[in-house]
Amino acid sequence: MSVDTAALNAARHRLADDAPVWLFGYGSLIYKVDFPFVQRTPAAIYGWERRFWQGSEDHRGVPGAPGRVVTLIDSPGSRCGGIAYQIAAGVFRHLDVREKHGYLRLWQALHFADGSTVDGLVYIAGPENPGFLGPAPEPEVAAQVARAVGPSGDNRGYLLQLAAALRELGERDEHVFALEAAVLERQRSVSGG
Ligand code: BEZ
Repeated sequence: MSVDTAALNAARHRLADDAPVWLFGYGSLIYKVDFPFVQRTPAAIYGWERRFWQGSEDHRGVPGAPGRVVTLIDSPGSRCGGIAYQIAAGVFRHLDVREKHGYLRLWQALHFADGSTVDGLVYIAGPENPGFLGPAPEPEVAAQVARAVGPSGDNRGYLLQLAAALRELGERDEHVFALEAAVLERQRSVSGG
């Protein structure tokens, strides 16, 4: 699969521009809302775990020195909390370019706090995409996140913003919070404080 998934996503889902669609955000879509939406609300999906397992060469790293950003890993019984946005399908023209590095849009059941569910689209970068890095020991992941920088800013900022946004939502994500602690500790020890 090509790592540039923008054209693949546009071809996979042929929706009228004004069709209302639900989109689930579990990473930067939670805190970087640079797109119009009709409504948004906390939501969760089941059977997936958020992991810093996708390489970023276009936002939080560069070719040859990729950062790490989140994707979702198939994990029966797990829950991943985030935010659901109702958008007009035409908005995907912007989002497909923003999230073009290996992410395909998949339909999933989105669960709302009131117990209702709706089908929505979720960007997932699977293990078959060339940008997939997979797991690594936490100190290595922390070191990579601490040093990577790309056109959208430093990888550390991405992690810290995501952790803060999850806390604000009341979501506990041990993987994200442990990595945040490791990166902050690393920074303290490097600056001697
Ligand atoms: C998200 O926030 O849902 C998201 C994460 C990675 C890529 C695309 C979207």
